Amino acid sequence: MHNARPDFVLRDIVRPNILALQPYRCARDDYKSGILLDANENSYGPALSDPAGDFVTPPAASTPGVDPNPDEAPVNPDVHLERYPDPHQHEVKSRLCAFRGLPSPDHLFLGVGSDESIDIAIRVFCRPGVDKILICPPTYGMYSVSAQINDVQVVRVPLDVADGRFQLQVDQVLETLAADPLIKILFLCSPGNPTGNLLAHADVKRILDFTGYKGIVLVDEAYIDFSVDAEGVNLQSVASWTVEYPNLVVTQTLSKAFGLAGIRCGVSISSTDIARIFNSTKAPYNISTPTSLLARSALSEVGLDRMRMHVMSTLLERERLRSALPALPRVGRVFGGNHANFILVEIVDGQGAPDNKAAFSAYKQLAEVEHVVVRFRGNELGCTACLRITIGMPEHNEQLLERMRRVLSSLAA
Ligand SMILES: Cc1ncc(COP(=O)(O)O)c(C=O)c1O
Repeated sequence: MHNARPDFVLRDIVRPNILALQPYRCARDDYKSGILLDANENSYGPALSDPAGDFVTPPAASTPGVDPNPDEAPVNPDVHLERYPDPHQHEVKSRLCAFRGLPSPDHLFLGVGSDESIDIAIRVFCRPGVDKILICPPTYGMYSVSAQINDVQVVRVPLDVADGRFQLQVDQVLETLAADPLIKILFLCSPGNPTGNLLAHADVKRILDFTGYKGIVLVDEAYIDFSVDAEGVNLQSVASWTVEYPNLVVTQTLSKAFGLAGIRCGVSISSTDIARIFNSTKAPYNISTPTSLLARSALSEVGLDRMRMHVMSTLLERERLRSALPALPRVGRVFGGNHANFILVEIVDGQGAPDNKAAFSAYKQLAEVEHVVVRFRGNELGCTACLRITIGMPEHNEQLLERMRRVLSSLAA
């Protein structure tokens, strides 16, 4: 396997206490069948109004906690919610690997949404009160929230925001990384939130190849499944680069294209060494059995087909909104309608200049009078006077256009 960064030494950037970690072990790692009285679970079964739950159907002969042949059959946590879930989640990982074309589940860490991947990366690589992360605003807010929680400083090199380009200023990023060895993670968001743009692959590659930086590049691909060609094929993810780049971590999620924000399931893809460290650091049972079952269903053939259908409908609707919005009064440029399930819409004054006050007022009126909730992003760099609008279903978008027209027509000039 080709290593694109032989100079990168993982153990030099992992916090020493994490490097020395012995992962939590339980008796179930060694013994999975028999009468299980090892984990202080409740053998009487789940206390639910419907003990099986809506989606878990235990085999007819099974009594909670006691399998038909206790000496042989491993207790299956999928049908025994009173049991702790599988800490390794091989089935979900295998399905993700097949879907993403990745070589092995050993490259994966599953987390409680991408937010857990972001947090665990900071906890693994950044010493509280000492190390730093680099972000490129405007970007997703949780990088700095997680950094602050972990007492990690945030350094910023803004994107080039001219005319809604929202691309990296690579020379400045490299200069900043080279000048400060305490920066341990560079967070890139591609497609970006709130920008909706993919970052140029050549720029990401230049940073990954830069030997003046010995830290991690984390590419957040929460919206990557919306970056598809006309046939619905995704050619944009850099996840497969993790095989070659030991300094790359890619995070993805089931919250967006898969429509499963409620189950909290995200994945980080990296070298097997980084994945092993993340898996040793996480809480042992972070992925619940209901989450695991639903994730497996989403990653089944039927689930994937449905996801692709929803993505295609979203993209059609995005195009419709992109062409309809500029016809509304006081709408200026529409940014970021390229690679995600939202767009950024600029609100302008009578002379066509961005009008942040009007944008905020439109946001409030939309929510309070018209009951359409969008996000005001006007205080983000390069997003002055912008509303971020998630693409809804056709009827939602129809209503949005109608109600937005009312609100914008009523704005004082
Ligand atoms: C760029 C980006 N990354 C990560 C997340 C969080 O994803 P998850 O629901 O998987 O925690 C979001 C959610 O809005 C996001 O916009």
